[in-house]
This record gives sequence, structure tokens and C-alpha cells, in this order.
Amino acid sequence: MLPLLPSDADRYVASHSSPASPLLDELERATRANHLHAHMLSGHVAGRMLAMLSKLLAPRRILEVGTFTGYSALCLAEGLRSDGLLHTLELREEAARTAQAYVDLSPYANRIRLHVGEALKILPTLAEEWDLVFLDADKTGYIDQYEAILPKVRPGGLLIADNVLFHGQVLEAPIRSRNAAAIDAFNRHVAADSRVEQVMLTLRDGWLLVRKK
Ligand SMILES: C[S@@+](CC[C@H](N)C(=O)[O-])C[C@H]1O[C@@H](n2cnc3c(N)ncnc32)[C@H](O)[C@@H]1O
Repeated sequence: MLPLLPSDADRYVASHSSPASPLLDELERATRANHLHAHMLSGHVAGRMLAMLSKLLAPRRILEVGTFTGYSALCLAEGLRSDGLLHTLELREEAARTAQAYVDLSPYANRIRLHVGEALKILPTLAEEWDLVFLDADKTGYIDQYEAILPKVRPGGLLIADNVLFHGQVLEAPIRSRNAAAIDAFNRHVAADSRVEQVMLTLRDGWLLVRKK
């Protein structure tokens, strides 16, 4: 991960942000202990930001692409309306099993639907209008996933894309890695899209907040 902030500043930011729930702390601890790719988990401050935005929007329908072990899904679910639903999509069965186990322990068990499989195959089967979307799966899939999702985002709805700085590699000239090049192409694709307005944040590995007009 690109150290966007010195570690002292990171610690200061974390210690002045609300704590995560004990269940989220346990999920983060277990993921770090058991998963080779635990760095993919959003973590404390990004998780509190997802929960904050979700609470401000009070969404009826949330979509997440890239569940991993369920940390961000549980954060996003904190703002769901009582009659709301969150759909989250995960390619890998093992990660999905872990996520489902933690969803089942959470207060949102009956409002989270976990779908296992390739996002682009599942997306057309979901007949929903999205209030809030978190895009966080394969970086080379961002443009196609965005194009599949945006027509179903309600006007005024928010899409958040993670890793839009890709460890700082989008700043290289020329960009060498395939994933960073895909992210750079996605960032330019959104910047040229007149259907939306957007702002990029240096939170974590970079977030792009995209509001549909
Ligand atoms: C960065 S991790 C998600 C982290 C999670 N959102 C969090 O913040 O804790 C990306 C996940 O997307 C999944 N994934 C990758 N490509 C996918 C695809 N095409 N469809 C569905 N899931 C995919 C991976 O298996 C991985 O678990």
C-alpha cells in the first residue's frame, strides 16, 4: 500500500475516528491471521468512512463488487434502512464462506445477500436501483463493471471506487503494471463521463466518489 500519510499521522487519524464494532475488529484480526492477501481488507478508517457515507445516504439498496471476507459489506450495512438490502458479489468461494459466517453473526444477517461468482455474470440478474455502490474487485474489470452498474444507479446515487491510486503506480510515466494502467484508464473514463460528477480522495489507496447526476 502506498503510504499516503506518515505512520504517525495514520495513527492520529485512526485514534480520532470512532472505533469499529468488536465483530469488525475480530473479522479484521482473523483475516490478518489467516489470509495471504489480508491487505485487501478496507480496515478501520476506510470502514468508518463507508459506514458514515451509508448513514448519511440511508440507502434502500446497496451493491458491493468484491466482498473478500465481508469487512466493507458490514460497514456499508450500518446505514441501510430497516427495509433495505445489500447485495455483495464475490468470486472466490473460500472468502465468501468467511464473509457469510461473519454476516450471520451480525445484526444485518437478513439484509445482506452474498452472491458467489463472476460480477459481470451476476450483475444483470439483479433487478434493483442502487442508492450506493462500492466497486472493489478486479481492477481490470472496473470499466465494464461501472458501465453495467451506472444505468441502474438512481439519479443522486453514489458509487465509490477503491484503489484508484493503485499504490501510487498511476503516477508513473509510463505506467508499468497492468492493474495500474487499468485503473488509470478507469479514472480517465469517469472523468470524461458527463453523466456523473466525481471527486478523488487520498483516503487509503485512493477513493473515487462518483455521483450520478
Ligand atoms: C480488494 S478485495 C475486496 C475487499 C473488501 N471490499 C474489503 O474492503 O474488505 C477484492 C475481492 O474481489 C474479488 N473479485 C475479484 N474479481 C472479481 C470478479 N470479477 N467478480 C467478483 N469478485 C471478484 C476477489 O476474490 C477479492 O476477494
